[in-house]
Amino acid sequence: MSCLHYIDGNLCIENVKLAHVADTFGTPSYVYSRAMLENNWQAFNQAFQSMPHRICYAVKANSNIAILHLFARLNAGFDIVSMGELERVLAAGGDPKKIVFSGVGKKREEIEQAIKKGIYCFNVESEPELDRLAVIAQQLNTTVNITLRINPDVNPQTHAHISTGLKENKFGMEISHILPLCQRLSSLSSVRLIGIGCHIGSQMTRLDPVLTAIDCLIFLYQQLRERGIAIQTINIGGGLGIIYHRETPPTIADYAQAVQKKLSPYTLEVILEPGRAMVGNAGVLLTRVEYLKFTRHKNFAIVDAGMNDLLRPSLYNAWHDIQPVTLHSDEKKIYDIVGPVCESADFLGKNRELALHPNDLLAIDGTGAYGFGMSSNYNSRPRPAEILIDNHQMHLIRRRETIQEAIALEQIIME
Ligand code: LLP
Repeated sequence: MSCLHYIDGNLCIENVKLAHVADTFGTPSYVYSRAMLENNWQAFNQAFQSMPHRICYAVKANSNIAILHLFARLNAGFDIVSMGELERVLAAGGDPKKIVFSGVGKKREEIEQAIKKGIYCFNVESEPELDRLAVIAQQLNTTVNITLRINPDVNPQTHAHISTGLKENKFGMEISHILPLCQRLSSLSSVRLIGIGCHIGSQMTRLDPVLTAIDCLIFLYQQLRERGIAIQTINIGGGLGIIYHRETPPTIADYAQAVQKKLSPYTLEVILEPGRAMVGNAGVLLTRVEYLKFTRHKNFAIVDAGMNDLLRPSLYNAWHDIQPVTLHSDEKKIYDIVGPVCESADFLGKNRELALHPNDLLAIDGTGAYGFGMSSNYNSRPRPAEILIDNHQMHLIRRRETIQEAIALEQIIME
């Protein structure tokens, strides 16, 4: 479900007209709905209520500290993948004891900092990472919780770029490597194995790959138990898809029910790391039409947001719904909605049927996840502002960058 709706012909988020947001803060801007963010959180929390669970929001999906703060106030945990994300969660008032740290390339200083801040656990992705972690924890005179991430070689049936649980992907460890590794663990006093987990991919629209991956985890759990290795946690990662176009992903409730059915025979706490399903439908990218350009082959609407602001269409050929902020009664035409960046891959949507005038505002829907977070300064374009709508109120949660800020870190060499 989108956070957009029309009130008297004006496109709104909650009770604020997007035209008013553009007048106040300019374009391009990301605009989010607080109610939608909080509803998504509640939907996950309620759906998993009947089983021991820990929801660790995947910070990479949208890491604005105002959004992290909303989730922290709702008692969320967080899944982080860098020291930057750790600092963001702490700046947002998140509880370090609810942080899990994923990722294949954790650097020494990142591990050290996370241990010092007292995070809940590390999702370990390789044997050398385990060794590095054990040494650092020992030097710091402490014992850290770990879960081992497996690579179950399951096809998540999603875009190849966001598939993570196939044997050719860099993530997790082969199941056959886990038992020997666990045997070694008994000699490492600075790490405590609390669980196993996996994350097989993102924007998954079917349940069966997730359930197959959970079967692999259960199989491994049983093997560990037979060898007297007790664990209490299963991390099933994130990955639940949302509706961008005509997808039919399971609802959060369907997903929870299926997971629960698999795990109910066991006394295990489940860790979830949802990102997209928590924030994706809660945000839009607001952009203004600069020019309409008609050729014999195509009509282009050239807007002021580009691939540097929203990379998903260019990188994954992702489809985002594009809604006009003001409705016109004149005839619709087929447009490619393109940005100002000097690349032919710079498009936000192709072949969209719209009635457009220069200066019109458009809302690119479903961009709350992996929108701002993947933005860049390419073509020396300052990154957009971010605004959070709360009923009738607008809060600027990240002001627009300035060009001066973008060049401030650089230095001319005189000699
Ligand atoms: N946990 C781990 C270990 C992950 O790698 C990810 C996402 C998540 C959780 C959250 O997954 P989600 O619930 O959001 O699907 N930039 C891409 C998505 C990349 C996802 C990377 N990992 C996109 O725009 O579609």
